[in-house]
Parts: sequence; C-alpha cells; structure tokens
Amino acid sequence: MTMTTPIPPDATAKPAGVSPRNKLNDLTAKEWMSESVSVWTQRGLGAQHEHAQIERQHPAPFSFQDVSRLIAMFTKSGMTVLDPFVGVGSTLKAAALLGRNGIGIELNPQFVSLARQRLALELPSDLTATDQKILLGDVRVAASDIESGSVDFIVTSPPYWGILNKKPDHKVKSERVKNNLATHYGDDPRDLANIGDYETFIEELANCLELCSQSLKPRGHLALVVGDFRHGGRYFPFHADIARAMEQKSFILKAMNVLYQRHKRVFPYGYPAAYVSNVHHQNIVIMRKEL
Ligand SMILES: C[S@@+](CC[C@H](N)C(=O)[O-])C[C@H]1O[C@@H](n2cnc3c(N)ncnc32)[C@H](O)[C@@H]1O
Repeated sequence: MTMTTPIPPDATAKPAGVSPRNKLNDLTAKEWMSESVSVWTQRGLGAQHEHAQIERQHPAPFSFQDVSRLIAMFTKSGMTVLDPFVGVGSTLKAAALLGRNGIGIELNPQFVSLARQRLALELPSDLTATDQKILLGDVRVAASDIESGSVDFIVTSPPYWGILNKKPDHKVKSERVKNNLATHYGDDPRDLANIGDYETFIEELANCLELCSQSLKPRGHLALVVGDFRHGGRYFPFHADIARAMEQKSFILKAMNVLYQRHKRVFPYGYPAAYVSNVHHQNIVIMRKEL
C-alpha cells in the first residue's frame, strides 16, 4: 500500500552551505564532521511520550531519531530509502520527516497495521507529500517487486536470530509481560527469527539483504543496526558475523560504529558467580555496494 505523508514545506529546500561537490547528502561540512564520529548515543522520546505508545507495542523497535541521522548522512532530499524489516515503521516515519520517500517490508500484519497508524498519527499535518509504501510479506518475495536501482539507501534492524523466543527473563517480565506487550514477532516459519541454527540464520539474512541490494543503486550504502547477544552461556558477535557474511556478497565494510544505550538499566546478571556483561550498545554496520 502507499501512504502519502506530509513533510515540512522547507524540507526539500537546498540547505545553505552544502558543497556543490557533495553527492551523498545535504549536510554542511560542519554537520558531516560531527556525524562522522564513530560513537553515537541512542536518542529516544521516552516511554511516556504520546508518540512512543505505538512504537512500544513492537518488541524490538529502533529509534526513529537514530535512523534519521543515518538517512540524513546517506541521502539527499527526495531520495528513496528501503527498510526490508520495517516493523512498526520507524524508518518510514524518519524518512517522511526528512522529505525522503520510503519503502518498508514487513511479514507480520499486526506490525504493518501499527506502522500505518503511526504514519497517520505521528506526522505533523502541515507536511508536503512524500511517498511511503509498506509491502506486507516475506522479504524474499516482496523485494523482487522493487524496481532495480530505484533505492538510494537501505537501512534496517533485522531479527536478532531467536533471542526474543527465549523464556522471558526478569527484565522482559517486568517491562513487557506485565504490561501485556508482545515479547516476540510470532510463530510464522518465514520469520528469520524462527531459524533454529545460528550459522543458517546468518547466511539466510545475508541472502535476504543481497536480494534487496538489487534495488539499490550502484555504490549505494546499507546500514544495519544490530546488537550482539548471549545464548546458552556464549556471546554471539552478531555485528561482526553479519558484516563478514555480507563481504562474501556484493558489499564492502566501511564502518562499524557504536550506538551507546545510555538509558538502559544495569542488572546483576551472573553476580557473584560469573562475569556476565550488561550489553548496553548496538553496532551500526555501514557497508557499500561494490558490484
Ligand atoms: C528488529 S525488528 C524491526 C523493527 C523496526 N526497526 C521498528 O523500528 O519497528 C525485525 C522485524 O523483521 C520482521 N521479519 C522477520 N522475518 C521477516 C521476513 N522473512 N520478511 C519480512 N519481515 C520479517 C519481524 O516481524 C520484525 O518486525
């Protein structure tokens, strides 16, 4: 479906101070430099904000403000962004606010419905139109409906294997089960989170992203927001594993930035018997399509 969302009247105006040689974005030199620092602190509206209520119904959304920074770095006004695992539409919200067009793919119809509500409710009414499309279905099918070379930037947060399918721990119980909020994406066997084996999951995720890259223009960028995790007493360096798998495809690694989650609570995992870290960061894996 296509939703037409409004953007601010000045969002498409050529910003002052942007170099005519800048083909990547609409940032000034000063803005570019500050955004190029490899550690970012996660931004958010806060759980009580009226525009956080749809977002929190998804068990693993990313912040539209963090995605906005990536879209602003890797696109110009009027360009098109693809999120192949769009969830409740954070990327499309960010794209609309920045005057970019967006395409999202999502398997779970409940999340698609929430994403549509979000675009209708959370964008200012006085914005000029952009095109925000949501394709319901499996990324492996829906991606082939996107025209080759029509996308300028891919940004997404994929499933983190099956970590949400585990028995709820204390944190999940207190923050989600108690409030009757979803704790995982669902039981659909097409959901990548339901792949049993980690190595198979990494390979299949890389295949999905490679398929999506057919819609990406040559030398376009792909940004993945991913977090490492623990399972069965082992630490899984998801960010490194997916980056390595994508380098076997048509991408090269350009950066591995850190997204510091300063707001997270510290839990006494393992204490006093074993060292278990509180993982309070995600990585932003930045890659460029080379073939
Ligand atoms: C980490 S979440 C993305 C959340 C999103 N960034 C947001 O802010 O709402 C990953 C999403 O991928 C979806 N998903 C899993 N397997 C999929 C598949 N095969 N095709 C399309 N979407 C899939 C899940 O339903 C889930 O919503």
